[in-house]
Amino acid sequence: MNKDIKRIAVLTSGGDAPGMNAAVRAIVRNAFNNDLHIYGIMRGYQGMIEGTIKRLETSDVSNIIHRGGTVLKTARSKEFMTPEGRKKAYENLIYNDIDAVIAIGGNGTFTGAMHFIEEYPDIPIVGIPGTIDNDLYGTDFTIGFDTAVNTAVQAVDKIRDTADSHNRLFFVEVMGRHSGYIALHTAIAGGAGGVLIPEEETNLDDLVKLLKRGAKRAKLFSIVVVAEGNHMGTVYDIAKKVEDKVDFYDDIKVTVIGHLQRGGSPSYFDRVLASILGFGAVEALMNHKTGIMVGIKNNNVHFTPFKDAITKSKPLNKELLRMAHILAQ
Ligand code: F6P
Repeated sequence: MNKDIKRIAVLTSGGDAPGMNAAVRAIVRNAFNNDLHIYGIMRGYQGMIEGTIKRLETSDVSNIIHRGGTVLKTARSKEFMTPEGRKKAYENLIYNDIDAVIAIGGNGTFTGAMHFIEEYPDIPIVGIPGTIDNDLYGTDFTIGFDTAVNTAVQAVDKIRDTADSHNRLFFVEVMGRHSGYIALHTAIAGGAGGVLIPEEETNLDDLVKLLKRGAKRAKLFSIVVVAEGNHMGTVYDIAKKVEDKVDFYDDIKVTVIGHLQRGGSPSYFDRVLASILGFGAVEALMNHKTGIMVGIKNNNVHFTPFKDAITKSKPLNKELLRMAHILAQ
């Protein structure tokens, strides 16, 4: 597909992630620098289906680099998963003379983009990894991960104060249905006494043993960081299961950090990452790329086919996990 790209549309889709706005800003600014017209599609693929597409000027992206959420709004569109939905979306792109699309999001976003390109190869799409989960193959970091971990670590620091004061055990749930990245990094940076993640089976005995080891050296409080998708159940189930086995604490409490992790002003790291990837995505389209995610590897922009980004798993750093377990003792 080698037609010249003149009009690019950008959308954000799936769970929002801090830094998405910085990516949109970089896309708009680099598009203008290359005399391209740029359009924003509101509410992700749902907006593509409904035709909520508007022209963006450079002034539209002033004063957004520091803002969390996404000025383009987002959605998890069920209709786009159907051929009928994608047909409507295609017709709207044609109606608006859109030549190419940049989709910012995660696994679901790139799955949708892949199906769309298979059916409508005349509209190239490149993706930018925007999800707090950091779970996409082909990029060392996804936009939003750094900010989310910083938020979770701040929460753990605060919980530590009260856990210490009351001699309590806290289970702190962080996001990550399929991925333990947020949990592992939060546990290391927050000095947690344990971490439970989807990538590793932990049983009740192991967990109790770990907590007892701490108690033996007069550790009277503890914080265990739990990823949503861990193997032992919800944080509430886990707290119930250990209840009568850890009588050396005064009490057990549960904190779910939840969507706090998705909001807030992006960290410096996420702003720079988002700027690099947004800038790179425009260049990728100008170089006639399609069907790829623009990520970062060893500090260099790196292209990965959507198929690999969504089907290959990005393994956790086993050494980091081993270290986390040792430091938790
Ligand atoms: O994929 C990002 C993520 O924040 C996950 O960590 C979490 O499990 C999920 O989205 C929550 O999604 P929603 O906001 O749609 O409930």
